[in-house]
Amino acid sequence: MASSLISGLINNQHAACDITVTDPDQQKLDQLHQLYAVNTDIDNLNAIKTADVIVLAVKPQILKQVCELLKDSICKSRPLIISIAAGIRSTDIDRWLGNNNAIVRCMPNTPALIQAGATGLFANKNALAEQKTTADQILSSAGLTLWVDNEEQLDAVTAVSGSGPAYFFLFLEAMQKTGKQLGLDEATAGLLAKQTALGAARMALESDDDTATLRAKVTSKGGTTAAAIASFENNHFSDIINQALTAARDRAIELADELGKN
Ligand SMILES: NC(=O)c1ccc[n+]([C@@H]2O[C@H](COP(=O)([O-])OP(=O)(O)OC[C@H]3O[C@@H](n4cnc5c(N)ncnc54)[C@H](OP(=O)(O)O)[C@@H]3O)[C@@H](O)[C@H]2O)c1
Repeated sequence: MASSLISGLINNQHAACDITVTDPDQQKLDQLHQLYAVNTDIDNLNAIKTADVIVLAVKPQILKQVCELLKDSICKSRPLIISIAAGIRSTDIDRWLGNNNAIVRCMPNTPALIQAGATGLFANKNALAEQKTTADQILSSAGLTLWVDNEEQLDAVTAVSGSGPAYFFLFLEAMQKTGKQLGLDEATAGLLAKQTALGAARMALESDDDTATLRAKVTSKGGTTAAAIASFENNHFSDIINQALTAARDRAIELADELGKN
């Protein structure tokens, strides 16, 4: 995730000399330096000494330990903290960092890897307007950014876009499999499904029509699409989606409770 942000920032003409990357693995740091000419430092405390923005991009399970290491330094310099760790609430990060920090918590998704991500962002009450702008600039290097007003909404963002790429992959797998059963070779079925997803997503994003209208426009009465849509509806497609996204939202809440309890 961090590499995607770095790559996006550099591609957007951000100065490499303003970015310092840390990681326990010197080889990874050397690779990132070679690729993007960013500064690197294996020592977290050294790396953040003069930072006005710190992006926390470690696994959620070790975030507390990382925060506790940085706490004293951060309490003195008060940088903007951006966390992309899934499921860790800003109140927990703030507590681990000694309280009263400006924190922007983000929920990106994997298409960030190709700068086609969608990220939900939430700023705590200590984050200033210009710090929110900075966070937006950093995350928009990975794709679309959308702000939410309260932190619980990030659990819904997790359910829609955070976990969302996997839903579409599942849909594509099923379309490819059925395309093959219906007589296409696997590669052709897969490519047709993927290109159709891309075309439909682009139409949905670029058209003035909402998705229900777009769907109606390609669904002639008595036609092939109408037969497929009727089959989806008879199998309660909307309920299936509703249950799946609600399960993802509920799991996000459970994980935040578990990870933030210490
Ligand atoms: N991938 C996604 O789709 C996605 C979506 C939304 C949010 N996120 C969040 O993004 C964060 C990063 O995810 P990821 O998939 O990029 O994980 P990742 O590939 O494991 O990247 C984390 C990096 O941090 C390094 N690291 C470990 N301990 C460190 C320390 N003390 N100081 C500095 N760096 C340290 C890791 O090194 P080692 O490998 O040597 O441990 C690794 O290179 C996670 O919190 C995740 O929840 C990911």
